[in-house]
Amino acid sequence: MKKYCFLTSILLLLLLFSSCTRKEKSVRYSYDFDNLPDRVWAGEDFWTIPLEDWQINEGRLECTGNSSNMRTNLITYPIKPGNGTFALDVTCGLMHKGDQEGTVGFSIGVKDDEDPDVKASCYFGKGLNLGVRTNGVLFIEDQTVSFPADFSWEKFHLQVEGNFSLKGKAITLRLMNEQQEEVAWLVKESIDKIEGLIVLGVNHHVASAFSNGPSFWFDDLEISGTKISYEEGNRFGAILWAMYTNSRNVLKLTAQLAPVSARVNGEVHLEIEEGDGWKKLATEKLRADSYTATFRVGNWNPDLEVNYRISYSENLKDGETSDYEYTGTIRKEPVDKPLVFGGMTCQYGYGFPYMPVVNNLLNEDPDILYFSGDQIYEGNGGYSIIRFPADRAILNYLGKWYMFGWAFGDVMKERPTICTPDDHDVYQGNLWGDGGRKIELEDWQEYAGTSGGYIEPAEMINVVHATQSSHLPDPYDPTPIDQGISIWYTDMVYGKISFAIISDRIFKSGPKEVAFWEEGRRDWITEQGIDLSRLDKPGLKLIGDRQFEFLTHWMKDWKGANMKVLLSQTLFANIPTHHGSIDGILAGDMDSGGWPQTPRNKVVDLLRRCYAFHISGDQHLPLFVQYGIDEFRDAGWAICTPAITVGYQRRLLPDRLGIPYQNRPAHNLDNTGEYIGGMGHKNYVYAVGNLPDNTRSELRYERAQLSSSGYSIITFDPESRDISCNAIRFLADADRLRPEDSFPGWPVTVNQFDNAGINRTGDKITIQSSGVLNPVLLVYDAKTEELLLSVRMKGDEFSGIVKGSGSYILKIGDPETERWKTISDIIANEIETSPVVVEF
Ligand SMILES: [Fe+2]
Repeated sequence: MKKYCFLTSILLLLLLFSSCTRKEKSVRYSYDFDNLPDRVWAGEDFWTIPLEDWQINEGRLECTGNSSNMRTNLITYPIKPGNGTFALDVTCGLMHKGDQEGTVGFSIGVKDDEDPDVKASCYFGKGLNLGVRTNGVLFIEDQTVSFPADFSWEKFHLQVEGNFSLKGKAITLRLMNEQQEEVAWLVKESIDKIEGLIVLGVNHHVASAFSNGPSFWFDDLEISGTKISYEEGNRFGAILWAMYTNSRNVLKLTAQLAPVSARVNGEVHLEIEEGDGWKKLATEKLRADSYTATFRVGNWNPDLEVNYRISYSENLKDGETSDYEYTGTIRKEPVDKPLVFGGMTCQYGYGFPYMPVVNNLLNEDPDILYFSGDQIYEGNGGYSIIRFPADRAILNYLGKWYMFGWAFGDVMKERPTICTPDDHDVYQGNLWGDGGRKIELEDWQEYAGTSGGYIEPAEMINVVHATQSSHLPDPYDPTPIDQGISIWYTDMVYGKISFAIISDRIFKSGPKEVAFWEEGRRDWITEQGIDLSRLDKPGLKLIGDRQFEFLTHWMKDWKGANMKVLLSQTLFANIPTHHGSIDGILAGDMDSGGWPQTPRNKVVDLLRRCYAFHISGDQHLPLFVQYGIDEFRDAGWAICTPAITVGYQRRLLPDRLGIPYQNRPAHNLDNTGEYIGGMGHKNYVYAVGNLPDNTRSELRYERAQLSSSGYSIITFDPESRDISCNAIRFLADADRLRPEDSFPGWPVTVNQFDNAGINRTGDKITIQSSGVLNPVLLVYDAKTEELLLSVRMKGDEFSGIVKGSGSYILKIGDPETERWKTISDIIANEIETSPVVVEF
């Protein structure tokens, strides 16, 4: 068995080269790909872009695409700075001619100026391009030489030599025919420096995107020289990363693999460290479509802090195997301290690999992570989406999805991660899922993307759900939605916080059902003062009946929890006034959770009944808001976390538009206070992270900073019940946060009990209990039997507002021991003050 050796013939020969003053180490590596099984993944030393355009086939590396700038990054053997030599040799051949002129060759010294990390180099790096053009030209950048037209493209060799010394710097490129006879050569001198990745490129010298260009295969890649270094830490795969949750004694973990030859052999093993060795917990089959393996381990001890190891072996052609491992830590569940929660959303690709945010998360060390959606955007990676057929769409998605795990894997490997897909994750700029209905692309386009349903094949949607959410606690009701699409809404209890994890997209109705205007987008209300009640037809869905039923169950379940928090993708309010640009004024946006209004009010009412806080993302505008239903501030608080990297920009500038407000918070910041929102709701905006008018920057990370990108840290104290929120800017340094690193108005603290709404009216229930520590109180309407209030009391006394018939039933007790007392016939009203006394 070959340990950690995935390529059959890496020759590691240490040679000693002489230079004029001292001896330098030279290393020689070669890849012949002969022993590898046919698969999409090129191996742990390589990263291919776009993923779907490359494969290992019959012992060679093939580029099967026909577009521009297709590349295989050699991530482990970069060219290092300084003087020395290097030599590259590769065998290539034309696979498909296409009908456009193209190129094949290398980019060398590929490096991103802004971020030295190898991940940034792969996607944003620039280097020296060299190779051959299919019109019979050898090139090093702009320098060219022609070669005879009768050259055979079937098989040929490209050789590169770099000589960097005090005397001078030169690159030599040679084209050899199949018989190793020199066809043409070229030297480029006066080169400043070459430092960075070596990349195999196809159509890599074409500035603009094209299709139907040529494609090539590669084989027998050899690299040697004193200027080559080995970066073992850059290896990536075959187990790329893992995400896990643990809740109520069940550990769920999903291992994400690269596209290995899963159809041949696909077993993944999970072990935990015990004593001096490893104890096997479970073995699972690798899913052949998503390349995931999901483990479910019952009877998990939440007090255990333990290292885990995931392993996978792949059969090689010679009967040996390549063995891969990935390790991380399952943390002890925090119960005696506040729970620190990292809130993330929306990763627009220009900010990849989001290193400032990644480093800050590693420093801040949150107990749990939430990626609320848009873990990918369609343009991430710098190449287009493929919608059909399903298998191509899946590979195309995986290539973009892998960027997420490459960026955040080190953060996720050692703490629970909640991850839920949103619209862009399924290639729909806005998603009104309508319960999984199938919609044709043409139909969707005809109605400006406002018909309910999914465009992508169900197989692709299921891969999105498997890759992003299969490690969540078991779904509350796993019955698939239309087209057999899987569903994942669930709850998780961690650190004495009960999280409901739902989708506010999958069941949502499409605006086409109500939009009565003919002009423009049907999800956008551009005219002020239209009759919003016309958009609120009976039967329209927001979270859908199934998830509402789930929340009704969740709101009364306090086992192991002191506080409740709802996690969904977007805010249940329509807050921003400006979309896209500073001129893009919108009166309303039906993509927000403010629409449809009736189901929105219903879910916000449910949240206030159980004092739940709401965490969302999606808006690309950091917000801290108190919801209103009938009155301003008569419901709970919500945070919309900053996007990790903002692409599409939204702003809240009601002051600029002269929109009236009242009760501005004491901090007196612009654009805060009580405003009527786009869908007619009474929103109290406590804090907003507006971006400046001009956000232009040539630098990717600076552009992210200027666009109000960042993340949030939310601390739940299950004893004091305080919820402290900070929205932190992209370029902040978590080691020494300055006030200006938080968005204006943050940090801010509210208490769990504030989530009932300070302006709530109704009947007052006061209770005094003894004999049970922090009992759970449930208040039902005696007439309708509806649950009106559900809370984990803090101490022996509690007072809350309910809105019902005036006659109530109280149930008080301890869900852990199932000791309950029921008190019927409680008559309460607005001024009721004498407490109900309960003794256990
Ligand atoms: Fe987004």
